[in-house]
Amino acid sequence: MRRISVERVKDGMELAKTLYSIEGNILLNAGIKLKESYVNKFKEIGIGEIYINDSLSSDIFIEDIISDETRFEARMAIKKAMDHVMCGNNLDAKPVRNAVGKIVEELLSVKDAVINLQDIKTVDNYTFNHSANVCVLAAVTGISMGYDSSKLKELCLGALFHDIGKTKIPNEILNKPGPLTPEEYEIIKRHARFGYEILKQNGELSSYTSYIALTHHEQYNGEGYPLGLVGKAIHEFSRIVSVADVYDAMTSNRVYRKRLNISEVVEYMISLGNHQFDYEIVRKLLEHISVFPLGTYVTLSTGETAIVVDNNKNFPSRPVVRLIKDPSGVAYENFNEIDLTSYNSIVIADVLDDI
Ligand SMILES: [Fe+2]
Repeated sequence: MRRISVERVKDGMELAKTLYSIEGNILLNAGIKLKESYVNKFKEIGIGEIYINDSLSSDIFIEDIISDETRFEARMAIKKAMDHVMCGNNLDAKPVRNAVGKIVEELLSVKDAVINLQDIKTVDNYTFNHSANVCVLAAVTGISMGYDSSKLKELCLGALFHDIGKTKIPNEILNKPGPLTPEEYEIIKRHARFGYEILKQNGELSSYTSYIALTHHEQYNGEGYPLGLVGKAIHEFSRIVSVADVYDAMTSNRVYRKRLNISEVVEYMISLGNHQFDYEIVRKLLEHISVFPLGTYVTLSTGETAIVVDNNKNFPSRPVVRLIKDPSGVAYENFNEIDLTSYNSIVIADVLDDI
């Protein structure tokens, strides 16, 4: 299985992962043969990438770290909560709390979760998918930091609700397909305080939840908003959510830009550790991120093209790869696999969109 951009879909390609709508309804079943004519439909509903199976990748299995059902439940719960608030109703936190309980329970039962699968997000429903992802990434970080179940639930509730204040920001600004003016940016920044107010009004939520919404854009160096807090004055929960938030935003396709490769995002986040972020927290999250996810096409320093077939937990930048093409671009007849931990002189030179 490997991930491709929908523009590269060709007649007869096999879909490897079932595609669902935001409501959890099946759009296309795994195993179906795709047609080039689907490309426009994919684009119409905002799907930019899919997983396919082909002869080079059919033995590579990429699993999500939580079940599809739990992911849908989390997305739907936050969507309903946000729709409700947008219509002027009081917040009902119960469905979100239930979803958080399941995420925490599932993740605590996985030993050493490594994230290989990137959630296929539709651009339209970005906020709900993003909120669910931030919750999962925050939970993985919290587990890595030794959090127990009740602490994880507090963290995850705030993570799932972190952007609820966006319900008070005009859609034209939120989904503007271009750079924001300074005035528009000032309006967007208000979502942190709006979120705090919405969550504080709910008597069932603890002050951690509203505090996370208020401070998830604070930065370790004091350059964040709305309070300009510095370092450990920002609660650990918010430092975790801010790392998860930026990581997920950068690895997602947005209306105004294409996603970055994981390896680029990892490099960026390490370089900003202890400036924008708490470096210890960045490190804890990255322990669970596959820098070169399974099924990624890469160019090696030898000039050969390869596909990532396995990861080495302690050496994230040195996976096991299957060699596909020689340096002149000619396909090998037999595909040999090499473990880059045993070939120190060979490095991954580039990540390819496709071959
Ligand atoms: Fe935000």
